[in-house]
Amino acid sequence: MGRRDSLFVRACLGRDVERHPIWFMRQAGRYLPKYREIKGNMNILDLQMNPELSSDITVLPVRELGVDAAILYSDIMVPVRAAGYNVRIEEDVGPVVDTGISENDVGLMHEFECKSDAPYVIDNITLTRSKLDDDIPIIGFSAGPFTMLSYLFEGRPSRTFERCRDVAKNDPDLWDEAMRGAVDLISEYLNAQIGAGVDAVQIFDSWAGLLGPDFYSRYVKMYTKMVFSSLPDGIPKIHFSAKNSFMLRDFADTGCNVMSLDHDTDLRTAMEYLGNSMAIQGNLSPDIARIGGNEMRIATERILDGMRGVSRFVFNLGHGVLRDTDPENLKQVVRMVKCRGISD
Ligand code: CP3
Repeated sequence: MGRRDSLFVRACLGRDVERHPIWFMRQAGRYLPKYREIKGNMNILDLQMNPELSSDITVLPVRELGVDAAILYSDIMVPVRAAGYNVRIEEDVGPVVDTGISENDVGLMHEFECKSDAPYVIDNITLTRSKLDDDIPIIGFSAGPFTMLSYLFEGRPSRTFERCRDVAKNDPDLWDEAMRGAVDLISEYLNAQIGAGVDAVQIFDSWAGLLGPDFYSRYVKMYTKMVFSSLPDGIPKIHFSAKNSFMLRDFADTGCNVMSLDHDTDLRTAMEYLGNSMAIQGNLSPDIARIGGNEMRIATERILDGMRGVSRFVFNLGHGVLRDTDPENLKQVVRMVKCRGISD
């Protein structure tokens, strides 16, 4: 069976499956001792430029946890730095951008070309493919236009996005120019990943859910829609946002065919609301996965019971794996998911 017919791809596209596939957002990260060993003192943005090591990290969780898909070891800010912006990732903070964005440097985003600006991402995909069994698909990813620009406008992680809101309302031409730049960069980046062999893509518009439906539908949605519509048909296109329960209709309208739901959302209700054409992914709480034990087993069972008989479902967390999660907890969840048939 080729990877385009893998369990994960079939579930995403609503085809028949014998059981639910499983992978974890942020499965390639610091909670894995081998990851910390490989990474040493290197920064993720520099490590990323070494495809041999990056591809080793990409396959690590497949080997250690037994998940059904690999996600490219990279970061949402990799193409932003490759395009020429001054980005670094600060430990325990996240992405920091020294010089914010202005009308003059929006052009950098339009000019981004993956093959010449970030060839190591292509090499990471090629090498990962050669290291994985044929039936394990690779998930490529990017930030959504808003989440990407939020770092460029705010300069660092924010949960209130004052500058974005100011620019969108008071300087709509700059907002539109910047969002169109982000669309060009992200479309180029994801299409390059697909060309290099990823089998699905996920857009992490992690913070879009914090904007509220009015701002989102007026200033963000159309740009995410442009990104999805630039991608080929027939492959899984996953949309993820945290805190998204009340904005599912808007997110569903972006052109994705899989909706990744966070742990505040009731899966069954969301599924009924979204209808038959959308697969869903989620949504064990990362904090419950960190705590482990009985609480984790009960929460996992509850999700599996709720999704009994539903073929278009991918088991995941509601957000990324937390750093001090014991890998044994995740292995246990993988075992539980794998031993349940679709109708058990
Ligand atoms: O899922 C995976 O395993 C693939 C790798 C991946 C990373 N970042 C690696 C990483 C993915 C999919 C991301 C996405 C990402 N990066 C998002 C969207 C997902 C989400 O959680 O909402 C966001 C917002 C970022 C920005 C970012 N990069 C943050 C907030 C941090 C953590 C800062 C910290 O030190 O706590 C990073 C750094 C980062 N990206 C790490 C990893 C494994 C950890 C630091 C490191 O190893 O250098």
